[in-house]
Amino acid sequence: MLSSSATYGTIIALLVAQISGLPSLNIESDSQAIFPSHNNGQIPDANGKTPSGLDMDFDALRLVRFLNGDMAEGYEEPTWVTEREKLEAKREGRDCIDITEHRDFGTNTYTSLIAASQSRTIYHPPNSTFVSKVLPLLSSDEQKANLETFTSFYTRYYNSDTGRASSRWLYQRAVNYTEKYASSELKTAARVELVLVPHNFKQESVVIRLNPKNVSSSDAITIIGAHCDSINMENPFLRAPGADDDGSGTVTVLEAYRSILESGYIPSSPLEFHFYAGEEGGLLGSLDIADWFVKTGKSVGGMLQFDMTAWVAAGTQEKVGVVMNRVDPALTEWQKLLINEYLDIPWVETEYPGRAGSDHQSWTGAGYPAAHSIEGAWENGNHQNPHSPRDRTDISDEFSFGHILQYVLGFSYVLNEYCLSCHGCYASSFDIMIYHEAKQRLITACRFTKLAVAFAVELSDY
Ligand SMILES: *[C@@H]1O[C@H](CO)[C@@H](O)[C@H](O)[C@H]1NC(C)=O
Ligand SMILES: *[C@@H]1O[C@H](CO)[C@@H](O)[C@H](O)[C@H]1NC(C)=O
Ligand SMILES: *[C@@H]1O[C@H](CO)[C@@H](O)[C@H](O)[C@H]1NC(C)=O
Repeated sequence: MLSSSATYGTIIALLVAQISGLPSLNIESDSQAIFPSHNNGQIPDANGKTPSGLDMDFDALRLVRFLNGDMAEGYEEPTWVTEREKLEAKREGRDCIDITEHRDFGTNTYTSLIAASQSRTIYHPPNSTFVSKVLPLLSSDEQKANLETFTSFYTRYYNSDTGRASSRWLYQRAVNYTEKYASSELKTAARVELVLVPHNFKQESVVIRLNPKNVSSSDAITIIGAHCDSINMENPFLRAPGADDDGSGTVTVLEAYRSILESGYIPSSPLEFHFYAGEEGGLLGSLDIADWFVKTGKSVGGMLQFDMTAWVAAGTQEKVGVVMNRVDPALTEWQKLLINEYLDIPWVETEYPGRAGSDHQSWTGAGYPAAHSIEGAWENGNHQNPHSPRDRTDISDEFSFGHILQYVLGFSYVLNEYCLSCHGCYASSFDIMIYHEAKQRLITACRFTKLAVAFAVELSDY
């Protein structure tokens, strides 16, 4: 499905054409008929915002496998449901993978393809000399500004006009970073490609590749990724800012890309940054992309996925939640070494409950080594706000950016010494009480980005 590939340079002309061809907002009048029991006819919503140009047949049949931790493989047998039933299951906390387009997912067809192409990467203890050059360039100001715009799209639902517009904004942001920060040495040594990946729905995924020119096409690829869509699971016609889920992971990966470019780092092996569309619809974007990797015989050294990186529950100690189920054990152990080496908070092993899922599973299901880290132990995560209009940065000071917005200028100078961040801003005076609180919030986001950078640079330095 990665058919719209173009090299950096030509892609900008393509993009301009695509943006000027954006459809205008298309307000569906009969949404009430589709969700009579959920929106009560309240369209537009309480804030007077218009819906999102959603365009979807909720009676369409989809082939899904529901997640079920009690099963050996973790997935129930494939079953046909309508789009409406799929949403209803999500509301009940039953996630699925939607394999309508990839019916051989997880079967022997995949396994044998992978066996033919994939040589197993042996992970050695972190020792790259480049990570420490990138980390001082991390900027929480960039992340804050990016998240502000990203959450301002009415919804990033994958079958909505605003969902598509949000991906194109993200894509353009990456293009701008590339123009500004990609060194001529990098552009000489590697092909820098930015791709809008089309799917069978409105939103596109965004894929960025740094592909060294002197390595073979079978070289193992390093991937860091997050999902760029959001959802209001009560009613996909309504507001879904998706700040933590997964705007936080998106700006984590985007800032890793920006800082790696700014550092002038040139990977020794291919390095990719993925932003998946349609995760909330059953891992749709990542399945398309992982499937394309399988079918084209690509080899993956490791994939690290970020889905929700911002929340520090009140009264809990800040930790990185290292997910232990449906991941690659060796890569997961190596991820712990990275956290030990580059972060100043501990990791804690945690598990997704049996019925929840995210994009790393498209990669493990395809037979590739993938790992996943989340904002803390699962039980301390932000579960009350995602998939609703409440998933905002300002919903609670448990959201790390809430305090950043208000206090970053005053505190960033002092924060430098802690999270190697926020260059370009200086503290004069500050309220010491507020400082301590703000410090913790800011560091959370920085810490995950440090992990993203460390993973990307260490593994692509092989
Ligand atoms: C890191 O360790 C590996 C494995 O021992 C070695 O091959 C590589 O040269 C080392 N890299 C650096 C920068 O020391
Ligand atoms: C990209 O840069 C152009 C030119 O400076 C600017 O007009 C546009 O707003 C930027 N877009 C994004 C998404 O950063
Ligand atoms: C590719 O070129 C880089 C320098 O740009 C060099 O460090 C690296 O060893 C080369 N790799 C291969 C496989 O030739």
